[in-house]
Amino acid sequence: MEGFPKVRMRRLRRTSALRNMMFKARIHPSDLVQPIFVDENAKIPIPINSMPGCYRLPIEGVLKEVNEVLEAGVKAVILFGVPARKDEAGSAAFADDGVIQRAVSLIKREYGDEVVVITDVCLCEYTSHGHCGLLKGGMVDNDLTLETLGKIAVSHAQAGADIVAPSSMMDGQVRSIRSALDDAGFKDVAIMAYSAKYASCFYGPFREAANSAPQFGDRKSYQMAFGSPSEAMREIELDIMEGADIVMVKPALAYLDIISLARSMFNVPIAAYNVSGEYAMIKAAARMGWINEKAAIFEVLTAIKRAGADIIITYFAKEVNSWLNQT
Ligand code: PBG
Repeated sequence: MEGFPKVRMRRLRRTSALRNMMFKARIHPSDLVQPIFVDENAKIPIPINSMPGCYRLPIEGVLKEVNEVLEAGVKAVILFGVPARKDEAGSAAFADDGVIQRAVSLIKREYGDEVVVITDVCLCEYTSHGHCGLLKGGMVDNDLTLETLGKIAVSHAQAGADIVAPSSMMDGQVRSIRSALDDAGFKDVAIMAYSAKYASCFYGPFREAANSAPQFGDRKSYQMAFGSPSEAMREIELDIMEGADIVMVKPALAYLDIISLARSMFNVPIAAYNVSGEYAMIKAAARMGWINEKAAIFEVLTAIKRAGADIIITYFAKEVNSWLNQT
């Protein structure tokens, strides 16, 4: 074996130009998706305590936000709604004049195809009990929920959504939504499926933001337990079979192995969701002066890309462009 001293790995690390040449997992702003919270009751942007720098915006406020996102070079947003009223059936989720439907129409009227509008299709923000599906006998009933998810997706498509993103982890949700969209004439509206979605403590800040914590129990009967990689691959495989155009792994940072495994097994675009708790951890440590915020964001987003994600949904999206990829 030759090796050292003929081989010297440090040769290619000598200058910043050389290091840049060797840096492969580059993030482009068009890989990123900015989440936006829209609050039907808000009159002004309401700061989210556990997510410094993030706000619940009034419906009209989305235009300014989308403008900032586009200025940053980011081309896609994912919308989450906080409705004025919740009920047992989550009916505000599919109302024609619902918070998301109104926000999407506003954005599309102003920006058209300049921006990709993705909508989260779920019930937890709209149900009084805070679960992602409809209840029957105190349990989340899978098949009962499917029709409602289809209705939500169609109402988002009618408002102008480009992509709907089912996140309730009901079995068969992608198939039901695909059929509902096709039957309503929306064959070109795509589905980004939250396929490998884990029951995770890292959603905590989001639930404060969207006011969507379950009022009893937890989400473990529908979201996955984090110990099993093969179950995630099965979820992804089924969603592809049911018609998902893009599959998602969520959260991202504690699940880089899942992203990487999915990348090696499937030939579909993979999205990863750098979730609220992952955002909050970096913001909190940076506030304490314990971590360099920009460096941390750059390192974790690069890791998610390197693991194999094509698309990264991240609350950092609109703030990173100017200094991204500065090695
Ligand atoms: C809706 C949904 C959640 C997130 C995205 N869609 C919350 C949950 O499942 O409890 C979490 C996103 C984040 O934490 O940033 N079901």
